Amino acid sequence: MRNLDLAGGGITERAETGFLRDLRLALSKPPHAISPKYFYDACGSRLFDQICDLPEYYPTRTEWGILSDRAAEIAAATGPNIELIEFGAGSLSKVRLLLNELRPRRYLPFDISTEHLHRAAQGLKAEFPWLNVEPVAGDYTTSVDLPPAQSGARRVGFFPGSTIGNFSPREALDFLRRAAQELRGGGLLIGADLLKDPAVLHAAYNDSKGVTAEFNKNLLARANRELGADFDLSQWWHSAFFNPALSRIEMHLISRSDQRVNLAGTTFEVAEGFSLHTENSYKYSIEGLQALAALAGFQPDKVWTDERNFFSVHWLVAP
Ligand code: AVJ
Repeated sequence: MRNLDLAGGGITERAETGFLRDLRLALSKPPHAISPKYFYDACGSRLFDQICDLPEYYPTRTEWGILSDRAAEIAAATGPNIELIEFGAGSLSKVRLLLNELRPRRYLPFDISTEHLHRAAQGLKAEFPWLNVEPVAGDYTTSVDLPPAQSGARRVGFFPGSTIGNFSPREALDFLRRAAQELRGGGLLIGADLLKDPAVLHAAYNDSKGVTAEFNKNLLARANRELGADFDLSQWWHSAFFNPALSRIEMHLISRSDQRVNLAGTTFEVAEGFSLHTENSYKYSIEGLQALAALAGFQPDKVWTDERNFFSVHWLVAP
């Protein structure tokens, strides 16, 4: 693909947001990939909530079942006097299943989508009046900076939804290392989607209503809204498939034609078949996730799964 720089590089550089910089980079050079964190503006967060209700998308429902069935056992593992820190908290729906059992002194939901987070925090406060909710807006993929723990409290991280699957194994290891440091004396409760029949995986990312396709294309819609780009959404295909060699679902947006796209003063000539890689969703074995956690400095402890072994929830002790 050729990059016709009509406006002359530097002009917008200083004002470039992370999204613009990363999208420009992804369009410009191989591997033509962008972080899935950019899916989650207000619109993308709403679409993701719709995905979670789809019949084909089993992870949310399955993890939900595990957390609600095992809340008491989970609370016994995490222990008393805790501060609960949720990474990538989104709609704060899963934590509701644990709060009455865990009874944390404070709950710190950490999320990149500020608007969505604050709205969700309000709703949670209304439902659990006894709970101290302190939302933290930020990007936990780049740093895990938290306010100091209250004296005597142990920190328990909560990272549900198999969001860990968005990280490459290398990134997952880095994240777990930082988490093990931040959570010393406590631990991490983490949900991980498990390897399974590729047909089940495939259906979960190719739903019949096309919600996942819309979610994927929201990346381009968001660029149109926020960056003044002119992506023609009808000229892109949603593609999602299981890559067994790398044990991951890959999502791509594929150009249906030779087309031009304008993005902040740059015109990109996109060839038919050009693929923008928008997401990886790694699938783990129980042992694989535990090995990674151990390498990061955790002591893998209890694991809970559903009866089909579709999903796993791990308690990782941070010594
Ligand atoms: C939020 C990263 C766990 O990988 O299944 C759902 C995101 N992408 N459908 C996943 C997603 C397409 C989801 N995670």
